[in-house]
Amino acid sequence: MAITLKSATEIEKMRIAGRLAADVLRMIEPYVEPGVSTERLDEICHDYIVNVQQAIPAPLNYRGFPKSICTSVNHQVCHGIPSNKILKNGDVINIDITVIKNEYHGDTSRMFMVGKPTVQGVRLSQVAYDCMKIGIEMIKPGITLGDIGYAIQSYAEKNHCSIVREYCGHGIGKVFHEDPQVLHYGKPGTREVLQPGMVFTIEPMVNLGKRQVKLLPDEWTVVTKDHSLSAQWEHTNLVTDDGFEVLTEHPDWPL
Ligand code: MF3
Ligand code: CO
Ligand code: CO
Repeated sequence: MAITLKSATEIEKMRIAGRLAADVLRMIEPYVEPGVSTERLDEICHDYIVNVQQAIPAPLNYRGFPKSICTSVNHQVCHGIPSNKILKNGDVINIDITVIKNEYHGDTSRMFMVGKPTVQGVRLSQVAYDCMKIGIEMIKPGITLGDIGYAIQSYAEKNHCSIVREYCGHGIGKVFHEDPQVLHYGKPGTREVLQPGMVFTIEPMVNLGKRQVKLLPDEWTVVTKDHSLSAQWEHTNLVTDDGFEVLTEHPDWPL
């Protein structure tokens, strides 16, 4: 499938969808506290997206996913299903929000520390954030996705962390997951050349231990095989004529 280049009109719609997704993360932050269940967080986000934003939570019923957001706690890598699991002091959680507004998607996720942060949790979350930021700041016409993947992988490994290879970033627009696949590892000069108008996510999953993962019997939740902590941050990004624009940036949380 070919990579779609977005028109000015489409980009304007994606700015709106991106901002709404960022707003959901900003809204939910104060609720991420010891004692709350992940399904309560799902319920609050669902109601906000549907009733306040008048938008659609993209995960709900996507390929059978049963909830409106993904909540991945501690050794869960991604696609955690909100449940009656109660968050406790020292947990780390990724909340991944995708909204559809006027047919276009905005996709963003970030880490939250529950209660008093642990040293390991803070360190891993910071490495994962830096991986995402390093990748985003490279975006400009003419470089390749392999250049980005290589830089992300090198940074993670230099910091004695590993990059998950089974899941990647993706093109996004009217379609939730479209071409290109954005690998968070790779070799310079390989894969697609960036062009103005491309929109794709960068969403590295970084493990404190080994990179291997397994899928739980619920067929969604991905966990680290060695049960080491995992962290992920995600933004939706536009390639501009001379660089990039982060479509899911929130003014309270500049890149
Ligand atoms: N938001 C995830 C991503 O970054 C995808 C979630 S798919 C779901 O691509 F079905 F698990 F919601
Ligand atoms: Co994504
Ligand atoms: Co996402």
